[in-house]
Amino acid sequence: MTDEGKTGLDRTLVLEVTRVTEAAAIAAARLRGRGAEKAADKAAVDAMRRELSNLPIRGTVVIGEGEMDEAPMLYIGEKVGSGEGPEVDIAVDPLEGTTICAKAMPNALAVLAMSERGGLLHAPDMYMNKIAIGPGYAPGIVDLDASAADNINALAKAKGVPVSSITACILDRPRHAELIAAVRAAGAGVQLIPDGDIAGVIWTTDPEETGIDIYLGSGGAPEGVLAAAALRCIGGQIQGRLLPANDEERARAAAMGISDINRKFMLEDMASADVIFSAAGVTGGSLLDGVRFRGDTAEVDSVTMRSKTGTVRRIKSVVRNVASRYGV
Ligand code: FBP
Repeated sequence: MTDEGKTGLDRTLVLEVTRVTEAAAIAAARLRGRGAEKAADKAAVDAMRRELSNLPIRGTVVIGEGEMDEAPMLYIGEKVGSGEGPEVDIAVDPLEGTTICAKAMPNALAVLAMSERGGLLHAPDMYMNKIAIGPGYAPGIVDLDASAADNINALAKAKGVPVSSITACILDRPRHAELIAAVRAAGAGVQLIPDGDIAGVIWTTDPEETGIDIYLGSGGAPEGVLAAAALRCIGGQIQGRLLPANDEERARAAAMGISDINRKFMLEDMASADVIFSAAGVTGGSLLDGVRFRGDTAEVDSVTMRSKTGTVRRIKSVVRNVASRYGV
């Protein structure tokens, strides 16, 4: 272990973390297209939990499958890892896009972020309003509190393109009808996605490849923190504000240490320290290929990033004996 490993995130953890998302992706991929959201999610959770126990860390789950009483594994506060090595916080979404996996549609992922202790916002499981753009823009050129039209115009101006060549990615939900209309009225295009807004945010970091310039709208707060961890590694801006639906959710946020429910969280608030972010493709999509099975062998595609250096590793693994290794 290098010196940095004793206190923070050792760079060798990049490969260790990749094994964890790969395992979850392989396990969930066996259940693609079965219409069985819960079974696929459970397979991913089990595989991720098992692999995490082999990691040389003293980890605490800060974003996971729920509170201890509602989730048997990867619950918030659960200790994971071998019990030796650096103290780290872990945010997981073992199957991001349970419905798209169940329908074998594109862009289901297994996702994990790891930070130095205290480096990830403890976001409660509720909605968060989000805005994100890729790297290369002055800080604050878009703002969660500005109108969609103002943000689209500011982005087009900063990019030096007409508004008509800007595309916003938005989750296809009735609650976004007004937002979608406002973006279109401003003259920009909208790419609607059925699920999976971690990928939606990451797409903004490579608009030439993805065609997406900005992510707008509400989705899960945990997904917001995971997306912020990715942007901390590859650049870009994200802002988010919790959208509690009722007093119970407000109380839950307070219990998790969020004293100002109206606070606008910036990237640095959601991912405040060194992080490693990893995603592995369950179903194929524009970010990653899906798992391909050849008998008892699985080919799995992942991307793992490290904020300290900004290195992005795209790894294609051929994993043998998946039945005995992952029980799939
Ligand atoms: P799940 O994998 O938990 O189903 O989440 C998928 C997702 O689309 C997220 O990417 C997004 O943040 C959230 O659901 C949006 O929630 P909702 O489906 O309630 O609009």
